[in-house]
Amino acid sequence: MSKERVLITSALPYIHGIPHLGNIITSILPADVYHRYQRLKGKNSLFICASDSHGTMHEIEAKKEGVKTEELVYESHEKVRSLLEEFNFDFSYYGITDSEQNRSTTEHIFHKLDENNYIEEKSIDVTYCRNCEQYLADRWIEGECPECGGLARGDQCDDCGELLEPKDIIDPYCTHCGKKDIEFRKSKHLFLQLNKFEDWLKEWIEGRMGNKLTRSETLSWLNEGLEERCISRDASWGFSIPKEGFEDKVFYVWFDAPIGYIGATRSWAEENNEDWEEWWRDDSIEYFQFMGKDNIPFHSIIFPSMLKGTEEQWNFADHIVAGSFILAEDVKFSKSRGKGLNLETALDVRNSEYWRYVLMALYPRNTDTTFSWDAFKEKVNKELTDSFGNYVHRILKFIDENFTSEIPDGEMDEEVAREVREKIEEMERELEDFRFRQAVNKIIEISSLGNQYFQREEPWKKMGSDPEECKDIVYTCANIVRSLAIVSDPFLPKTAEKLWSFIGMETNIHEESWTKAKEFDLRSKTITEPEPLFEKIKDDDIPDFDNEKNKSKKQGGEENMISFDEFKELDIRIGEIKEVDDIEGSDNLLKFQIDVGDETKQSVGGLKGHYTEEELVGRKVPVLVNLETSELMGEKSECMILAAVVGNKEPVLLEPERDLEAGTGVA
Ligand code: 2FM
Ligand code: ZN
Repeated sequence: MSKERVLITSALPYIHGIPHLGNIITSILPADVYHRYQRLKGKNSLFICASDSHGTMHEIEAKKEGVKTEELVYESHEKVRSLLEEFNFDFSYYGITDSEQNRSTTEHIFHKLDENNYIEEKSIDVTYCRNCEQYLADRWIEGECPECGGLARGDQCDDCGELLEPKDIIDPYCTHCGKKDIEFRKSKHLFLQLNKFEDWLKEWIEGRMGNKLTRSETLSWLNEGLEERCISRDASWGFSIPKEGFEDKVFYVWFDAPIGYIGATRSWAEENNEDWEEWWRDDSIEYFQFMGKDNIPFHSIIFPSMLKGTEEQWNFADHIVAGSFILAEDVKFSKSRGKGLNLETALDVRNSEYWRYVLMALYPRNTDTTFSWDAFKEKVNKELTDSFGNYVHRILKFIDENFTSEIPDGEMDEEVAREVREKIEEMERELEDFRFRQAVNKIIEISSLGNQYFQREEPWKKMGSDPEECKDIVYTCANIVRSLAIVSDPFLPKTAEKLWSFIGMETNIHEESWTKAKEFDLRSKTITEPEPLFEKIKDDDIPDFDNEKNKSKKQGGEENMISFDEFKELDIRIGEIKEVDDIEGSDNLLKFQIDVGDETKQSVGGLKGHYTEEELVGRKVPVLVNLETSELMGEKSECMILAAVVGNKEPVLLEPERDLEAGTGVA
């Protein structure tokens, strides 16, 4: 049953280096979309996030740079916060795990766990670099593998795969300074007795897993049996442990990070005069957590156990929603500054609206997905621009030019209303099932439905002959624009704002109601002069990032070649242009019926303004016949006229040297 108040948290981003797109695609971005969607559905939604700011990494980096750890951390926090702002994430509160509110919550939870006998002390071997004056995490020590002589890294050999104890590594060195000034020390540490929660967890997780991936990962942990987890570290950056004998140690970063959800809610409550406990103790809240798959066990096993062990009343997650990874085909998702596709470099290519759309259209729900510049270009050019942007533009332009900017009063076409409503309902079901990829695609499906209707009904022909019907068509189309504005708001908030003002609405779209998208009762509005919503991606817009694939392309390397077999797949024939039609609202496209020998195929191509209808009909041109059907401005395009292109935009038609039958092959 859905509830009035909704709590949404997204995995907290690390802040050493700038987060890359892979860090937000399954966490902050879907959480933000969900938060905006819940708000439109009339819920009181609280969206909490924060910088994950502890961890030894910061200490090491600060030492290298000769600055205080705290200074470095807060500088990164501000940098990340401002980039997240540019992505237009609408956090109710964005905090930092290093806050006093988080410290006191962490200490409280720890004391309770300790009092209730869920914490055990044990002495273990830890690695120390005398040169760095720093304890080393396993992965920061390397050396020779005692089994095969290969490269041993921390607790595993890279070459033979043998699991190792760091102290068995031969000639170990510190990966930070490269020196062999290593010693192994005994150190007392604190362990959370996870096994004590196994039975409770098995029951608790039922029905809370947002998707298959979350479920299978959690069950595999439970089936293997839970082991105790060390929650302390020999380090100085972090919250020091409030227990006798442990004051010089800090909590492990993953102990206070999830507690950061509560800590940040407390900070929000203090700043806004609210009661944080209403969100964390009162179970009339529906709580959604979003994250990448590597975070699953922390949210489905460790954090719930930590809360349960306090033996207090807490709101546990109702939906744990994890996504897979986004892999990069031709660009690195690197975290180091200035390299690869991180949030900062992505924004240099296009503003956040483009990225929000493309990332949601690639959302890896249960399996990994691949990012490539080709996919980016295709999503932007075909979906955002040709379908969504174009639909809106042609309707508004039509109203602007033919109705002196007043949206005419008319009747909504019932069939279209039913179809749009159905699409929106499908979108709701997809969103409620966290299928973001399918959900965002509904925006394109609705635009395409509108495009087809406009094209089919040809209102421009009815202006004089049947003005009432013309008004109904335009009224129907304008209502679709309004629906599109509302349903695109969770994904494309800036675009939705623009659309809202284009159709003369004065309210704040982010506070509108989702159900209005299904109501089609737009009355007496004057549109403002429309401007294109999106700009196509040209090859020049795509940054090089020094990657190998681009290099080989430039040098005409293998990547740029097709085999003779691939060439043979192309079915190119001489076609005869039988009919040419205008596509209303398009500045450059025409629709053709082309005889390709055994059949007539439809093609949509950019010859408008370059050739007249008379110059085109009857002409024989080479045509690529076996091209997948696509849709442009609501019209099917089943084949493509091949032409020379001068200066990247002026098409020049090619002609066979003597007259040939339609259908003659070109090889
Ligand atoms: O994997 C990560 O990026 C972590 N910083 C996520 C932390 S989520 C949490 F529980 F705080
Ligand atoms: Zn060192």
